[in-house]
Amino acid sequence: MTYSNIKEAVQILNHGGLVAFPTETVYGLGADAASPHAVQKIFSAKKRPANHPLIVHIGSFEELEYWAKDISQDAFKLAHYFWPGPLTLILKKQPHVLKAITGGQDTIGLRMPNHPIAKALLNAFGSGIAAPSANLFTHVSPTDSAAVRAELGGQVDLILEGGACELGLESTILDMSRNEAVLLRPGMIQASTIEAQLGRKILYIPKQTVRAPGQHHVHYAPQTKSILMEQVEIKTTQFDKKTAILFHTDALKALAANNRGHWVLLSQDPMQYARDLYRTLRACDTGHFNCMIIESVPHGPSWDAIRDRLKKAAG
Ligand code: TXA
Ligand code: MG
Repeated sequence: MTYSNIKEAVQILNHGGLVAFPTETVYGLGADAASPHAVQKIFSAKKRPANHPLIVHIGSFEELEYWAKDISQDAFKLAHYFWPGPLTLILKKQPHVLKAITGGQDTIGLRMPNHPIAKALLNAFGSGIAAPSANLFTHVSPTDSAAVRAELGGQVDLILEGGACELGLESTILDMSRNEAVLLRPGMIQASTIEAQLGRKILYIPKQTVRAPGQHHVHYAPQTKSILMEQVEIKTTQFDKKTAILFHTDALKALAANNRGHWVLLSQDPMQYARDLYRTLRACDTGHFNCMIIESVPHGPSWDAIRDRLKKAAG
């Protein structure tokens, strides 16, 4: 791992440029969160509609109150317990926060990532870095630098190399800006783990997908038509060589060896499955296949985030 590019990255951020950097979840497309000009570049590079708010990444607890106000004791407790880590907290915003960051809402999303390069960058920059996932709008998030290059290549001033992301799925998003704690996006920090810290239940209200005329649902989707299928259905279907089948159960292994189609084995361990999922979707999304079949995953809570992303991938 090298930190030699951190200095250059900070210079770019200070001049209003874009720096892609690794986090423990996925790669982010970073800009100075206090610069309207720089933040605007994120939206242009991603082709992202302006009403989609951005997460501000911070490197220290002191910065929490610089960006957010009226922070409850519960919110402080969660920040101190889970940060640095894959939890984004939605809090009431301070007046100075740019409208482009919040999408015009009165709240801000904050997260302190747990990745040595992200930490080094944030500490060296010394202020908030606005960063959505470093992919084109609605595409699958990048989990390595090659994926960032494929998605945004020439539009990024610098890509910091950090290898493959440890978790592979975006952070858990929890709205702590009102009386109830509300889960907006499941992630690898599970709802029950948050409930154990809070000592109370949290609500789950999936974030409303923004719909404007002529636009599709917001999703984390491959370009190739993707279908979720139960194991039994996969067993009774004949595939052709233009179909990729992503499976994880032992029962399908024999079938994979004897059936046409491009069979890809994923892990039965949710942590490993999550780590591999986006890279695998991307590898099957090169235009070579007409269709991707994804075997349904188990119902347990450790699969919540994966199930959520698979549903979105399959529309
Ligand atoms: O793991 C992650 O969260 C990654 C890494 C780079 O940190 N970031 C990420 O950002 O996934 P993005 O922009 O792809 O997804 C952030 C989500 C969006 O759905 C956005 O609408 C939501 O967070 N969000 C941000 N600020 C919000 C706010 N104030 N209220 C509600 N939702 C918010
Ligand atoms: Mg994203």
